Parts: sequence; C-alpha cells; structure tokens
Amino acid sequence: MDWNLEETEKKALIEIKNAVDEKELEVFRIKYLGRKGVVQEIFSYLGKVPKEDKPLFGQKANSLRNNITKAIETKKQSFIEKTKDFLNLDVTLPGVAVSLGHKHLITQTIDEICSLFETLGFVIQEGPEIETEAHNFEGLNIPEDHPSRDGFDTFYLEAEDPYEKNKNLLLRSHTSPGQIRIMKEHKPPLAVVIPGRVYRPDAVDASHSFMFHQIEGLLVDKDIKFSDLKGLLTDFCQKFFGKNINMRFRPHYFPFTEPSAEVDISWKDGKKEWLEIMGCGMVHPKVFEFVGYKKGAYTGLAFGLGVERIAMLKHGVSDIRTFYENDNRFLKQF
Ligand code: PHE
Repeated sequence: MDWNLEETEKKALIEIKNAVDEKELEVFRIKYLGRKGVVQEIFSYLGKVPKEDKPLFGQKANSLRNNITKAIETKKQSFIEKTKDFLNLDVTLPGVAVSLGHKHLITQTIDEICSLFETLGFVIQEGPEIETEAHNFEGLNIPEDHPSRDGFDTFYLEAEDPYEKNKNLLLRSHTSPGQIRIMKEHKPPLAVVIPGRVYRPDAVDASHSFMFHQIEGLLVDKDIKFSDLKGLLTDFCQKFFGKNINMRFRPHYFPFTEPSAEVDISWKDGKKEWLEIMGCGMVHPKVFEFVGYKKGAYTGLAFGLGVERIAMLKHGVSDIRTFYENDNRFLKQF
C-alpha cells in the first residue's frame, strides 16, 4: 500500500480533536498508535520504500507519529481538566435565579382596556394584519382618490388580492377593517372590541412608529345615538384615567363615520393641555350598505384608540420607541 502521509495525518488529527469522551479517544489511540495501528503499518512499509525516497518518507512518518501522539495527549489533558472543573464545583454557591417574565406594558394596556369594555358587554374579536383594499378602504367609504390610499400612508404587499384582480394585499393601516369583517358575518345587535397591530410608513420619532396598536370598538343596534357614544367613551375614560380628567369631543372627519369626532383629555390639576386619544363617530350609512345591512335598519357607533398613546399618557412614557427596544430596565418598571 502506498501512503499519503499528509492526508493520513490530517484525518487522524481531526478525528482526535472531535473525540467526544475519553472512551472514544482511546479507540482512536488504538487505531493509530496501537500494536497493529496505522503508525505501525507505516513504519513496516518503510522497508519497501525505494532507497532514494527513504529519508524523506522516514522523516514524514516520524513527524506524523509525534503529532498524533501529541494531539492525543493534549486531548486527554482537556478531558482531565473538564473533570477537574466539575469536581471543583461548589454546590453550596447560590444558583442563577431564573426571573419570571411578565406582560409587556402594551399587552397590559390592551388587556385592561378590553376588559373594561367586556364588563359593559362587549366581546373581543381579532382580525388579520394582512388585509384587502376592500376591507381597509372601500368598505369604509374611503374612495380611490383619498390621500390615505396612496403608497405613502399604507404598506402594500406584492401579493395580489385573491378575491379581486389587479388589487394588492396590504398591511392594515387601522383596525377599522375589523368592523367590516364583523358586520359581514353577523347581524346586529353587535358590541365588539378589536385589538391589534396596525402599520403605517411613518418616519420613526418619539411619537411615531411604523407599527403600533389600536383598539377598535363597534356597537350596532336599532337605536344607537350620539349620546350613547358620548356616554360610553366618557365612562371608559373616567374608569381608565380616573375622575380627575376633562374630556372634549372635537368635531373631526372620518369617511366611515358621520358625524365624527376626536376625543381629547386633559388633567384637571395638570397643565391645561389637551391630548388626543381616539377617533370616533356614528357609523356611516355607506358602511352599512357595503356590508349588506338593510337601509335605515340600524345605527351604530365606532371608535378607534391608539394603545401606545394611551399607555404613554397614563404612565408618563415620553418616547414611543422605548416600547419596542426590549430594554429590561424600562420593561421592568411596569
Ligand atoms: N380608524 C381611525 C384611525 O385610525 C380611527 C377611527 C375608528 C375613527 C373608528 C372613527 C371610528 O384614525
């Protein structure tokens, strides 16, 4: 047999290095250095090597033997060290405490808000984050040329809407498409809250993020009035923020509610600064028409609140980005 000494050595050193325990290392020791081992075979072969090649072959064979011997020794030593480490283990040292996690402030806020509405008879529903234009816009009476429909305010996906040719799917820009989904499937009376993530290509700063959370609310029945909307949201705000707040309903425009308003709050003993916390209004007849409700049969109220906004106000958080940075020094405080 002709020997490729370089190859043999390389293979041996890899095998030795990868040995998982002393038992396996011993197997390799016998394979290479044993009485009938590879090294022995190589030296027996030396006699057959042509005279002129002998010195070089002999030299290489020697160095192969030394290197393998050394590698086995080193590996053995490393197993011994490991055992020593183990024996040095001080079992009386205190262990590493596994600290329990807890809900993120955003999740806590969503839970708190939803359960307040649950006590009023609302049920919690969720909708998908990938939506169709029909649910995110059309159904909500947001016409094709409405500014919020252009690419700047909505993330469009490359995937085509499977239900509508030449329309792409998108990441929902608000939780309001949840209204459409619920109403398409159920007849009034309806009382639902829909929490979830929404996406807008906003530049990220202290008060904007391209992903944030909203909670949508929808109440539809035969005789829902604007006074119900005011009463419901006032009750909610006083329960959530305490009685120490002022509230105002500031007229606003949303295509899917009429009339529409934004709700601002301020603290009675604080600065006289109004802070916007949600949009709301009476469900637009066009929305009822889209979901197939009989004209004039129902009225309804809807609202959409920004969870981060509300958590920031309630807990004095000044930068929205801290919610997403996963810094335990921040998260632990809540
Ligand atoms: N969807 C609106 C927004 O994201 C909020 C809203 C919801 C307004 C429901 C009115 C009724 O700004």
